Amino acid sequence: MESPRDLHYKRGELASPMAPGALTWMRVPLAITTSASPTEPLIARAQAAARQWGVPFLLRRHKKSLSAWFGSHAEALLVFGHDGVTLWDKEGHHGFHLGMAHLRRLRVAQGEPDTFVRVAQLGPGDAVLDCSLGLAQDALVASRAVGPTGRVVGVEKSLALCALVAEGLKLHELGPDSCRVEVVHADALEHLRSLPARSFDIVFFDPMFARPQKAQPGFDVLRRFADHAPLTREALEEGRRVARRWVLIKGARHSDDLKKLGLSPEPGSRYTDVAWARIAPAEPALAP
Ligand SMILES: C[S@@+](CC[C@H](N)C(=O)[O-])C[C@H]1O[C@@H](n2cnc3c(N)ncnc32)[C@H](O)[C@@H]1O
Repeated sequence: MESPRDLHYKRGELASPMAPGALTWMRVPLAITTSASPTEPLIARAQAAARQWGVPFLLRRHKKSLSAWFGSHAEALLVFGHDGVTLWDKEGHHGFHLGMAHLRRLRVAQGEPDTFVRVAQLGPGDAVLDCSLGLAQDALVASRAVGPTGRVVGVEKSLALCALVAEGLKLHELGPDSCRVEVVHADALEHLRSLPARSFDIVFFDPMFARPQKAQPGFDVLRRFADHAPLTREALEEGRRVARRWVLIKGARHSDDLKKLGLSPEPGSRYTDVAWARIAPAEPALAP
């Protein structure tokens, strides 16, 4: 069943999601569409996602190229295809996939070392709050390490990345040895403030590095859409309030990201560009 808003877009017009029905012709940061040969179920799925994320749905005519919409209609498009979900902008695209996390999850399953798992001391049943979900690589590793009795919540500030990952994850069966990754679109500090003290075992921050790292697949897309604001001491303090075991921070080894926050890296491999730091949770207040 089409909503009046969907019909409106079908005529090739774009209204602000804030003012349904108004002919504002404004370009939006993100819209949702389908691949160029959509079926009814695919259209229905994309429309439902557009409603969920509060962004316009653009009906794509058969074989219509996306390029005409960039500039006039949307800065970015989340495209629902028969084989997955892809985020496009005029510079390129990235289809959601498990990426390197797939291999890391296999290694965790075989009891092989993973630095995130080791430094966080992750084990079955743990609850992990990932305050910088990105492409969910670390969150997916955590979901395998904590297993089906654990919990992983990923917070992401960028709507485009958040929608890409949340919709992409819906299409991936993680199996009975993992918990699902719950995705929250929010600013991490605001979300932390809304949580009770000591409600997660691990609170994890992986802010954008000051200096670009060697690109993993999809990292250029991540860089364009990500929030680049540096991690603050205030967010770390909120993390310490919410954490029961550790607040974990990932930084770049050859930068002063961690030092600026007064953090020292944990000992680790000399052969990696990544440095990890962890801080203890805040002491619970004594009862009066
Ligand atoms: C380096 S990436 C994280 C990569 C991620 N660990 C992974 O495995 O794919 C940092 C992510 O944190 C997000 N971010 C930055 N500041 C944030 C904030 N205040 N709240 C929520 N997300 C934030 C960025 O948009 C970006 O997607």
